[in-house]
Amino acid sequence: MSRIDVLLGLQWGDEGKGKIVDCLTSNYDVVCRFQGGPNAGHTIEFDGKKYVLRSVPSGIFQPYTLNLIGNGMVIDPVLFKQELEELNQSGYNLDGRLFISKKAHLILPTHRLLDAAYEAAKGDRKIGTTGKGIGPAYTDKISRNGLRVGNILDSKFEKKYAERVKKHECILKSLNFEYSDQLTALESAWFEAVEFLKHFQLIDGEYFVNEQLKAGKRVLVEGAQGTLLDVSYGSYPYVTSSNTITGGVCTGLGVPPSVIGEVYGIFKAYCTRVGAGPFPTELFNEIGDEICQRGQEFGSVTGRKRRCGWLDLVALRYSIMINGVTQLIMMKSDVLDTFDEVKVCVAYRIRGKETENFPFDLEAQPVVPVYETFSGWKTDLTKVTSESEFPVEFRKYILFLEKELGVPIKIVSVGPDRKQTIFR
Ligand code: GDP
Ligand code: IMO
Ligand code: MG
Repeated sequence: MSRIDVLLGLQWGDEGKGKIVDCLTSNYDVVCRFQGGPNAGHTIEFDGKKYVLRSVPSGIFQPYTLNLIGNGMVIDPVLFKQELEELNQSGYNLDGRLFISKKAHLILPTHRLLDAAYEAAKGDRKIGTTGKGIGPAYTDKISRNGLRVGNILDSKFEKKYAERVKKHECILKSLNFEYSDQLTALESAWFEAVEFLKHFQLIDGEYFVNEQLKAGKRVLVEGAQGTLLDVSYGSYPYVTSSNTITGGVCTGLGVPPSVIGEVYGIFKAYCTRVGAGPFPTELFNEIGDEICQRGQEFGSVTGRKRRCGWLDLVALRYSIMINGVTQLIMMKSDVLDTFDEVKVCVAYRIRGKETENFPFDLEAQPVVPVYETFSGWKTDLTKVTSESEFPVEFRKYILFLEKELGVPIKIVSVGPDRKQTIFR
């Protein structure tokens, strides 16, 4: 029996998971997503082209890899169809290589409307969701009202659908959310996309993964979002609605904890966050603007400007602990190339006391980051092709992080392209 290696975001998402999954895929036979849905936007760049994946695993660009949309995911048939059509137009045909778990849940058109309605009702306390219906779809799953992918094959599917929509309409009305002119158009596109979904291999994902492992196949799991957006351990309530952490792999794919092998924890050399919620090291000055511009920190799904700040080791240590990270991957180091100084938050000061622990509620009291300052490396890292070419200051930065975090940094990414990846 082989093991499952897991790659997870350690910050607030958009760490560069898609790029690294694509880079690692040639070592694997199967790539699986286990949670989230089209709130994800995973960017992959090679041969001068850029692709953004939402629900499809980032293993699909390697011709022989099998890919699974796992049990723990939520799927919007309309966005799935769009994604597949775009890939087809780019010459990627996934026939026979893409499997969808029948236990994954469906995002209904009314889930998207509910997402918008709940956000509007929250006013200035809104989460800043991606608007894809993620929260309402997972809510229905947990409250045992959801519809699963396997249900689309039932003869009574339309009836079951109508029952759910009736409930959703009651909530929308209670929130005074005007929706009737949108729903008919959304529904016709949705049912057309459900027909499209039927052409895929809808399977029992848990049997699929366990059989692959028994056959000795190498399996890589791709996280979406990040640990600080996890519904249980993230900066609640400013989180997504799934478990994004290693623990979620077992429930999201139907595999026992004993099969988990390497846990690759991926982080940016700085921090970003999109949407609302606390962010201790956020920069509200020209340095933050420069990180945003140099890192092109605009959401791959919604185009929203991402908030930027210095690297936060309090948060990173917490994420490493929760996920049992065995190897670190540092992304977007090149974005800091031009700075005279680079800062790293090593502790928080809360009510005059220093702590290295991530607090229960980041918003309850002002959190003042305690920084360590490093000399900038002032070198164009995007041209570097091996570790031996790293400037001294950058080496010092890496060594400091490894010492503080107690886990080796095995991959350093110095640009968005596949080739701009240094294995150590
Ligand atoms: P994901 O959601 O974790 O897959 O990350 P996203 O794709 O949303 O965001 C990462 C962005 O950074 C994408 O636009 C990538 O093309 C880009 N990127 C990835 N690695 C690097 C890197 O090392 N340097 C730079 N400059 N950009 C990178
Ligand atoms: P990837 O996989 C960054 C954020 C949203 C919002 C919160 C809840 O590309 O890293 P949701 O729509 O999930 O209910 O929104 O979570 N969020 C992400 N931020 N990257 C993502 O995915 C995200 N998916 C959700 O901005 O703050
Ligand atoms: Mg993303």
